[in-house]
Amino acid sequence: MIFKQIFDTESSTLTYLIMDEVSHEGALIDPVASLTDYYVTLIKSLGCKLKFSLETHVHADHITAGGKLRQILAIQTGVSELCGAPTADIQLKDGDVLKLGSQSIQVIATPGHTKGSVSFLCNDRIFTGDALLINGCGRTDFQGGSAAELFDSITERIFTLPDETLIYPAHDYNGRRVSSVTQEKATNFRLADKTKDEFILLMNSLNLPKPKLIDIAVPANRMCGIPEESLPQG
Ligand SMILES: [Fe+2]
Repeated sequence: MIFKQIFDTESSTLTYLIMDEVSHEGALIDPVASLTDYYVTLIKSLGCKLKFSLETHVHADHITAGGKLRQILAIQTGVSELCGAPTADIQLKDGDVLKLGSQSIQVIATPGHTKGSVSFLCNDRIFTGDALLINGCGRTDFQGGSAAELFDSITERIFTLPDETLIYPAHDYNGRRVSSVTQEKATNFRLADKTKDEFILLMNSLNLPKPKLIDIAVPANRMCGIPEESLPQG
């Protein structure tokens, strides 16, 4: 598997390119619109046949490149069926498997940060979006978020994976780029040694400011980043 991690300095978003080295079929996870040209250049330089642009959720802090990539490269966009994204080609649901040659990407529902949040499991690594961050987790106070659901998603769907599974989140604001199930179980300050009730209390008392771009980004991302695009016919 060919694997690239790309960091957007403006939104601190981590985007991932996965490519099967035999078939050259690939997928981008959580691409950022302002970096579209960079992704296209990278994809071409690798000889990648991009098949999918996948979202871990409808982001509130940046606009996705999914729609633009579909226009340029004729790929399919994939967003959870619970995200309210009618122009996404694939309405992802728990248990779906996407194929890149002989590689598989498994969709794991991890609601809580948002109602439609999913993670993508590929071999020894999981792309957790904003469900589980490195030494943190996504907020749960908008887009159908729920601290109780997030606790269950993390403890029952992510922490039950093999301990050596690598954690690749959608954001990091402190220069960290990868963690593991072992490390997050032991050191994540929001989760390690916390009961569900303690976690819920902590999450419900964060009082975070509203994300700056939420009123622009969420409606745009429900349309794969291209609000003016019409709904698919038929
Ligand atoms: Fe988010």
